[in-house]
Amino acid sequence: MAEKTSAVREMGVNTRLAHTGNNPSDFHGFVNPPVVHASTVLFPNARTMETRAQKYTYGTRGTPTTDALCDAINDLEGAAGTILVPSGLAAVTVPFLAYLSSGDHALIVDSVYFPTRHFCDTMLTRLGVTVEYYDPMIGAGIEALIRPNTRLVHTEAPGSNTFEMQDIRAIAEAAHRHDCIVTMDNTWATPLYFRPLEHGVDISIHAATKYPSGHSDVLLGTVSANAAHWPALSEAMVTLGVCVSPDDSYQILRGLRTMGIRLERHQASAFEIARWLEGHEEVARVLHPALPSFPGHELWKRDFGGASGIFSFVLKAGPETSRAKAHAFLDALSIFGLGYSWGGFESLALHVNLADRRVAKAPSEGPVIRLQIGLEDVQDIRRDVEAGLAAAKAV
Ligand SMILES: Cc1ncc(COP(=O)(O)O)c(C=O)c1O
Repeated sequence: MAEKTSAVREMGVNTRLAHTGNNPSDFHGFVNPPVVHASTVLFPNARTMETRAQKYTYGTRGTPTTDALCDAINDLEGAAGTILVPSGLAAVTVPFLAYLSSGDHALIVDSVYFPTRHFCDTMLTRLGVTVEYYDPMIGAGIEALIRPNTRLVHTEAPGSNTFEMQDIRAIAEAAHRHDCIVTMDNTWATPLYFRPLEHGVDISIHAATKYPSGHSDVLLGTVSANAAHWPALSEAMVTLGVCVSPDDSYQILRGLRTMGIRLERHQASAFEIARWLEGHEEVARVLHPALPSFPGHELWKRDFGGASGIFSFVLKAGPETSRAKAHAFLDALSIFGLGYSWGGFESLALHVNLADRRVAKAPSEGPVIRLQIGLEDVQDIRRDVEAGLAAAKAV
């Protein structure tokens, strides 16, 4: 049998997902890499130890298991290097710590994942970094916000919970004219539907907890850098002592094998539910980038290769019935679980809290409900949502 070659990199995405990240001939033909539990690594002699002249030197600095996952992510992201961190949130905070110093100014999209905002408003601010939130729709207009000490522009598209799209290329071009680093939380699209580094982003961030895991049982983050920014990222990881368990790395690599076909199903079912909701009398608006009615739809169509399974809708309600209708909807669901961490096989719903927003304000027509559409049969999902809407109507 011929060796796996770099030709796989040119093949379709599901072929790459099936074959990336390990070479069976490196491990006696076993299809999967070994799960290496390690702190100590031995050296054959004093000279090798002194010069560290061998591939592995210490458990925190990588093992064959973590390398297999990093190789797979590098391949999918088109990155020079990837670090693995213990959660998606750490995949945001570690690069911020790597690239920002006291006295710097950072521009953060206002539709950002809330715990990222919390990190910026607490620890980053305490360390002497000035943080400013900008409108997700700002595009090239970001240039007007760049100050002499602006060092980093953080993007997330679509935005958390309200799914605003961003003109990533225009933002990256403006930021680079002023030597700023551009980071992107790309968790929603995964590198299957959007490759940030090809659109000018320097650092691509992923909560692998979501679709790469796919089973709601592993927490892990990946941070992938282009060649210019890889050395500082790699150095920060070693300096901070951040590392992940071999078992979790293995589970994520395992999840990647089926991520393409799972995403196809998430995408199709979510779009079907979103389109149906759009015509429903109890629904004011559906916030899904693949719907032509959505304000950021043209950007999504221009830049993204697909949509994943999470979106929101706005229930029609006045201020006095808003919370009661949202709760009635959620409490009437039986297939959907009420939970936060999405990307698994099961459907989830929640009442979105947008009280943190400063620029990208919450919709005014009623409560925002976020749905993660799982892998269940779509007619059952729809019946469950119908039951929720009937309960909301009765309030
Ligand atoms: C967009 C986004 N980024 C990052 C994270 C953080 O991931 P984790 O739960 O692994 O910390 C989440 C989690 O919901 C998220 O939605």
